Amino acid sequence: MLPSIPNLLAITALLTPIAIADCTRAGLPTTATTYFTAQTNGQPSTLALNTLNFAYKENNKITDINKGVLSQHLNLELNRTTADTVTCASYTLSIYPSKNGSKPYVLATQIRHPVNDTSVISMIDTVAATTGALFFDAAQKLMYLPAENWTALEIGKRPSREMLRRVGDAYLDMWTDGKAADLIPWGTNCEQIEGSRLTRPCGGALTHGGSAKVNGNRRYVIDETVRSVEVLCSFDSLDLDMPDSHEIRVEDGKVKYVHTVTVYGSR
Ligand SMILES: *[C@@H]1O[C@H](CO)[C@@H](O)[C@H](O)[C@H]1NC(C)=O
Ligand SMILES: *[C@@H]1O[C@H](CO)[C@@H](O)[C@H](O)[C@H]1NC(C)=O
Ligand SMILES: *[C@@H]1O[C@H](CO)[C@@H](O)[C@H](O)[C@H]1NC(C)=O
Ligand SMILES: *[C@@H]1O[C@H](CO)[C@@H](O)[C@H](O)[C@H]1NC(C)=O
Repeated sequence: MLPSIPNLLAITALLTPIAIADCTRAGLPTTATTYFTAQTNGQPSTLALNTLNFAYKENNKITDINKGVLSQHLNLELNRTTADTVTCASYTLSIYPSKNGSKPYVLATQIRHPVNDTSVISMIDTVAATTGALFFDAAQKLMYLPAENWTALEIGKRPSREMLRRVGDAYLDMWTDGKAADLIPWGTNCEQIEGSRLTRPCGGALTHGGSAKVNGNRRYVIDETVRSVEVLCSFDSLDLDMPDSHEIRVEDGKVKYVHTVTVYGSR
């Protein structure tokens, strides 16, 4: 027997998801804000973690979130977030200078979400640099960043995800692929800040291969609107164990900024 009309409607209602979740450019930075607040208070318990499936990585190692840097009370001075709505992830650079004797930190953090749902966090993946990290100086790094222009571009003028990813990969491939450096479209006004060390213009003394160890384990956050690619990786090509973040912003098809956050790991 065919169900009556009211029954059909009831069945349709059951099949419709209750909340139509989405991964929006607004939702990603909103969650990133909850992350700084948790970091400022040293209280990871305030984060909306996906209890069924959550991982915290610090310097490329799975770590107990309650024992990592997030459990320290730090003083946030600067944050900048980019958003990848395709993979539902954000990247945040956040800087915490030393205040009142606390250790200074620069954090390069990817926050990942379940598909189309920024209401919970499925992964926090952070490279946490402090005193002793490569070219580390939080106060110095803070001086360069406010002058940068990270304006979003209108649709139609944005580079493709593929182009941004190619630039990020070519950069990380320079140490193992002799041809990679020359594939990078360096801008004439490019600025590179490795840790806190400024090079301008960048692209001067480039590496052309020589290592057999690929900078692997790459995790990407690509934001076409601000034209950036950020890659967390294991920077192994120098035969040191270095958890690393490389972020590259492209302007008019050319590399404009390069930022790195690199720590010495413990194999
Ligand atoms: C984070 O950065 C945004 C954009 O620059 C700024 O408006 C906000 O105040 C910053 N948040 C904190 C807690 O510093
Ligand atoms: C800074 O340190 C002083 C001396 O240890 C302490 O009295 C003060 O409460 C601290 N201030 C903050 C904001 O932590
Ligand atoms: C995620 O949301 C977008 C936009 O609303 C939609 O096109 C896509 O099908 C959704 N993906 C999944 C796996 O639900
Ligand atoms: C920032 O970049 C945008 C887009 O490229 C440009 O329109 C704007 O003039 C720039 N702002 C400054 C202060 O240079």
